[in-house]
Amino acid sequence: MTLLKAEDLRRDYRMGTESVHALDGISFEVEAGTFVSVMGPSGSGKSTLLHLVGGLDRPTGGKVLLDGRDLAALDDESLTTLRRRELGFIFQFFNLLPTLSAWENVALPLLLDGKKLSDTKPRAVGLLERVGLGQRVDHRPSQLSGGEMQRVAIARALVADPVLLLADEPTGNLDSRSGEQVLELLRSTVTEDGKTLVMVTHDHDAASTGDRILTLIDGKLVQDDPSRAKLSETESRM
Ligand SMILES: Nc1ncnc2c1ncn2[C@@H]1O[C@H](COP(=O)(O)OP(=O)(O)O)[C@@H](O)[C@H]1O
Ligand SMILES: [Mg+2]
Repeated sequence: MTLLKAEDLRRDYRMGTESVHALDGISFEVEAGTFVSVMGPSGSGKSTLLHLVGGLDRPTGGKVLLDGRDLAALDDESLTTLRRRELGFIFQFFNLLPTLSAWENVALPLLLDGKKLSDTKPRAVGLLERVGLGQRVDHRPSQLSGGEMQRVAIARALVADPVLLLADEPTGNLDSRSGEQVLELLRSTVTEDGKTLVMVTHDHDAASTGDRILTLIDGKLVQDDPSRAKLSETESRM
């Protein structure tokens, strides 16, 4: 089943009289239950693509279809509700609220959706256990390592049981060991929990964790190679 479809997606930014084509006509489909990596150098349009796909920004041309629904047909309020209930976001700098504990950060999307704080605690704590942070539920972000903060962010992204996870350079600010843990965890959300994941990275090793790699250069899709991940796995054993 196709969960996500991008059709001739464009995003121009006007800079004075100049127009920057951050995305220059991108089309692809993502099957439910797959882990897709989006790779490309800095400035190639990766974050722009993720923002459009996640309804955080609107395209200047083309369409995003989520489960057959055109995001352009939704007003801002419906888009916000869709993001909160159906999507999970993971960012490079974690975006945790510093005054909330780990479990409250995880519960936040449910609170914003109208749930009572006390009703959300068991699920939030359960997810922190799932990401290996059962001993950290009352810690504040400042009391956690980078890898731990990112695992809290992953638990938060999962709390509403979304269909699609979107991650922008999730290992970009982590040491290699924490980065590997985060990649393993993301991999398991797809393999074990059946989530669909689109992960942006400029790191080839991280990208190889995916089932498929889309490569962006200057806002264009230059490569879409489903076998690439498996190939490099073979290469690394030789
Ligand atoms: N808000 C903006 N205003 C103007 N130009 C932007 C804006 N956001 C991104 N760009 C430009 O669009 C291009 C793609 O940016 P981005 O999607 O952030 O790339 P990446 O995530 O691959 O590094 C870059 O040339 C960048 O400078
Ligand atoms: Mg980026």
